Amino acid sequence: MTDRPVHMRHMPDFVTPVAPIVIDHAKGSWVYATDGTKWLDFVMGIAVMNTGHAHPKIIEAVKAQAAKVSHAQMNIYRHQPMLDLSDKLAEIVPDGMDTFVYTNSGAEAVENAIKLAKQATRRPGVIAFQGAFHGRTHLTMALTDSNVHYRGHFEPLVGGIYHARYCDPFRTPASEDATAYAIDDVRRVLRAEIYGDDVACIIVEPIQGEGGFIVPTPEFVRELRTIADEIGALLIIDEIQAGMGRSGKWFCLEHYGVKPDIMTIAKGIASGYPLGVVAARKELWDKCAAGSMGGTYGGNAVACAAGVATIDAMRDEGMLENAARQGDKLKKFFEDMQATYPRIGEVRGKGLMLAIECVSPGTKEPDVAAAKAFIAACSKEKLILMGAGSLGNCVRFLPPLNIPDADMDVAMGIFNAAAKVAFA
Ligand SMILES: Cc1ncc(COP(=O)(O)O)c(C=O)c1O
Repeated sequence: MTDRPVHMRHMPDFVTPVAPIVIDHAKGSWVYATDGTKWLDFVMGIAVMNTGHAHPKIIEAVKAQAAKVSHAQMNIYRHQPMLDLSDKLAEIVPDGMDTFVYTNSGAEAVENAIKLAKQATRRPGVIAFQGAFHGRTHLTMALTDSNVHYRGHFEPLVGGIYHARYCDPFRTPASEDATAYAIDDVRRVLRAEIYGDDVACIIVEPIQGEGGFIVPTPEFVRELRTIADEIGALLIIDEIQAGMGRSGKWFCLEHYGVKPDIMTIAKGIASGYPLGVVAARKELWDKCAAGSMGGTYGGNAVACAAGVATIDAMRDEGMLENAARQGDKLKKFFEDMQATYPRIGEVRGKGLMLAIECVSPGTKEPDVAAAKAFIAACSKEKLILMGAGSLGNCVRFLPPLNIPDADMDVAMGIFNAAAKVAFA
């Protein structure tokens, strides 16, 4: 037993919450702790509560569905919220992605996306990217490459996975073109490590999340589409963190004009109820053997009802537009701050998926201490933030997509004060 707070006495030590509180309730951008304190939430359960905490339309939908039926296993019967959610998703995903299979989590969605690609192509290999995060299950941690703690001590990992360089414009050597630098490495993998016709799929995050909110060039994502077509592999875009309006569009891939073969969605899809989705063309799903995919709980009726209400609320209340507008404002705020504090090496992201990367002034040397000091200074003022990045030197900003100006103003006041402490 350590000297941890009494409320942690039955929790393992590896659970280290970023805010030292027990939540009693939450509303909009705010959480209220059992000790009477009130905190501004700029993590939102890691990009889950995109509609804000306790959105009335979601609560209403959940209550109504819980009173009708909670669990209706998909191999036994259909339930209406799943059918309704599939209709709604078909309206917002890229054209042609018309069939959806539901899971309980993001990692499980990625597992099933890879299984779908392997079954549909009858090929064994997967190309993923350095710095990627796709989950913590045995298959997804083998795809993950953002930090050794996600995969170390778990050998042997699932085989047949090859990691190529992700497109990171900030950390591309000045003499190189960011797109070519990364794409050349994908071609190196195909030259040196796996035959193209053994590759089932290329899986990529449209913005690397855990890896540090790294925004690739649009050309990089387009080139991956080209390479996948050249070798007859499928392109999986993992929209689990960047999707569901987070980037100011329903899905981040819309910024690049690229169509995937398979998409994974989770986190923001159901405003806090566990739900993941694998989206693909029906003809791909039709290549799967009966019984080869699924599970007891996937597509829970209450979670699907929350998903339907989430899409309706986001659409009816202009949340995508608000995410784009507030995102531009927050990005400009940090870009202005960068002029005063060169410890902010880069401000990046799209919509309300934003991060700053901290460096030693005048260099690109990661400054982990500055990122930690900024998060700690904000926490002192009761604003909740989280770090990110393979190098541990990024701070991510994930407020709700419907954050009002007043809450953003409060946050900016706290960020100004924290920068004086952390970046001076
Ligand atoms: C891009 C991406 N893929 C997959 C996952 C795994 O999702 P989950 O934690 O729901 O298993 C995450 C979680 O952070 C993610 O950001």
